[in-house]
Amino acid sequence: MPVDILVGTQWGDEGKGKLIDVLTRDVDMVVRFQGGNNAGHTVEIGDKRYVLHLVPSGIFRPGVACVIGNGLVVDPVALDEELQGIEGKGFATDSVQLSNRAQMIFVYHRIADSLNESGAATKIGTTGRGIGPAYMDKMRRTGIRAIELKYLDSLAARFRAECARYNRLFAASGVPEVDVEAELAKVLRAAKRLAPLVCDTVYSVNRAVKAGKNVLFEGAQGALLDIDHGTYPFVTSSNTVSGGACTGGGVPPQSIRNVWGVIKAYTTRVGEGPFPTELFDDTGEKLRQIGREFGATTGRPRRCGWFDAVASRYACMVNGVNKLAVTKLDCLDDLDEIAVCVAYKVNGVMTTEFPASVAELEAAEPVYEYLPGWKTSISAVDCAEKLPDNAKKYLRRMAELVDSEIAIVSVGPRRDQTFAVSSLS
Ligand code: IMP
Repeated sequence: MPVDILVGTQWGDEGKGKLIDVLTRDVDMVVRFQGGNNAGHTVEIGDKRYVLHLVPSGIFRPGVACVIGNGLVVDPVALDEELQGIEGKGFATDSVQLSNRAQMIFVYHRIADSLNESGAATKIGTTGRGIGPAYMDKMRRTGIRAIELKYLDSLAARFRAECARYNRLFAASGVPEVDVEAELAKVLRAAKRLAPLVCDTVYSVNRAVKAGKNVLFEGAQGALLDIDHGTYPFVTSSNTVSGGACTGGGVPPQSIRNVWGVIKAYTTRVGEGPFPTELFDDTGEKLRQIGREFGATTGRPRRCGWFDAVASRYACMVNGVNKLAVTKLDCLDDLDEIAVCVAYKVNGVMTTEFPASVAELEAAEPVYEYLPGWKTSISAVDCAEKLPDNAKKYLRRMAELVDSEIAIVSVGPRRDQTFAVSSLS
């Protein structure tokens, strides 16, 4: 049963979109299983750069079925716009399937998202896409699912009722109310276009698995943003780890073959929250510029820091990562020496375990090991054997620290700047 899952092992933005695009050479179906249009997956083909938010990264490979699974929160207006944008660039979108069980995000979720952020004692730094409020409605059982896109009368009635409920909350907070009929008109326009894509993806995915097709589950964000395993409360509102693929895609655990963990050669984070290895100096700025570390969804500059093996080892353990894909190794080309965080000192006590407490993470002093840089451009390297010795040494140390094997290395944003690794000796 060839089902693979690909997840991020840091705070997102590890380069998953590119890896999925590379892996989909051999794949029949790509399934998103959590999150929403808070994700921004960048794929570079030739000299063109595409950013996807909801549509699975298999969309650029003809013949690959692209599934938006039941675990997502989907803004129908945003999805409609994204599909139109993809078609405008000359790619077909008829391979997209939208789960009838996926929850929908509406304008009132986006307003509630910014309202929560503006009044909160703990600001999360969300993407403002309404993700948290939509998942809250799912859990309180007031959400509206994508199946309603096929039943416009009932969709309109439920939308009006939810708007009325939210408008009462907004009025109490002094926030302008939603213009219900104008917003409904936008939703209904999107519904007409999306309705034919709505289907029971749990059946289509399981049929593909049963038929022996290659199915790839595409994670969004990263393990350290997982609602249970991340740096709570500075997290997103879904299970980003591999286990989320079973609930958010509807496949049983025993169908999983490999879990690919995408790991950037250094660490970044967008939004608020603890980040023990964050750099506030010239090296941090250099990584931001060289790595083009600006959010694909919001354009916000990403916080940059050294590779944190304590955090990523926890992520690999929870995900069951058995294959690592290291991205952006080339961004370290210029450095004389490279620091790797191998432990934390928390209130004077050394630990190699990732603390659950934000207070402990904020107090954590990284314990660094220093490795020599390779000081040469590797962006044209096309196999592991041609990597400089110090780059191989760095990769070997990363793999050892997170207790997994490196199977792919990426040395640039293009499809062709990626190679499989069988040995790093
Ligand atoms: P939300 O998912 O918009 O609720 O945002 C919650 C946190 O997750 C914020 O810190 C965001 O910056 C972060 N986040 C959400 N999506 C992504 C992503 O795709 N990459 C990196 N960070 C993300």
